[in-house]
Amino acid sequence: MFVSAKSNHLQRIVILNPKGGCGKTTIATNLASYYAQRGPLPALLDCDPQGASMRWLEKRNKNLPPIHGIAAYKSSINATRSWQWRVPRETRRLIIDTPAALEGPEIHDAIYDANNILIPVMPSPIDISFAAKFIAELLLVAQLDRGAIQVGIIANRTRNNTRSLQQLMRFLTSLKIPIIATLRDSQNYVAAVDHGIGVFELPHHRARNDIDELAKIVSWLDRWQAPRREPISTATTPEVPSEPLRRLQ
Ligand SMILES: Nc1ncnc2c1ncn2[C@@H]1O[C@H](COP(=O)(O)OP(=O)(O)OP(=O)(O)O)[C@@H](O)[C@H]1O
Ligand SMILES: [Mg+2]
Repeated sequence: MFVSAKSNHLQRIVILNPKGGCGKTTIATNLASYYAQRGPLPALLDCDPQGASMRWLEKRNKNLPPIHGIAAYKSSINATRSWQWRVPRETRRLIIDTPAALEGPEIHDAIYDANNILIPVMPSPIDISFAAKFIAELLLVAQLDRGAIQVGIIANRTRNNTRSLQQLMRFLTSLKIPIIATLRDSQNYVAAVDHGIGVFELPHHRARNDIDELAKIVSWLDRWQAPRREPISTATTPEVPSEPLRRLQ
């Protein structure tokens, strides 16, 4: 049984940065594998015509906790987005991997209905200046509603606390955007991707440092809460429920 990806109970996590190769798919697949281990069944939606997330999923051993894959890039123009983006009823998390080189209206489209946006940034001067422009565009041009959508940065492939990373941190602090994790440059990500697993599924002694950093992303995401249904005030509840209320029961 499938439900619309617009469901209130679903946390929609978009991994976004138009800069190619900054780690979007790596973060998307690692989060999907973590949520698969934790349950219930997560969904991984791939908007990138390169299909890297879906290729990763195809490699995943059938004995591992499953992930529901949605190859959104294969969409037919005849099907509506809400039909293509359906998720299994039990799914509580939808992770959306986006392509490089997205522009204006496509960015709007990618963040439509998002609850969280994760922006991976590599700490080279070029990547950081690109990210700064992109974040400014996201906030100003796309007029992101920061009350409804939480934005977090992931510094990816860091080697040490470089000057450019410190510059990025100052810029983000001025915008009140948190750096929620700093992922090392680690062969564990490369090895995991080849086997359709995440670093959470590697032996703990081998991937402890990477697991600890990814856990920070998970705990930031766990602060999201599904909106509660408005309680019906007893003062205004009629004795005989009106038709729409009866249908809800
Ligand atoms: N922290 C890391 N340590 C080591 N290698 C990494 C790390 N993060 C990403 N990589 C590697 O960098 C390459 C690019 O990463 P990835 O495919 O996740 O980027 P992307 O943003 O999805 O790229 P694209 O924009 O092309 O979709 C991959 O080979 C990946 O294995
Ligand atoms: Mg990718």
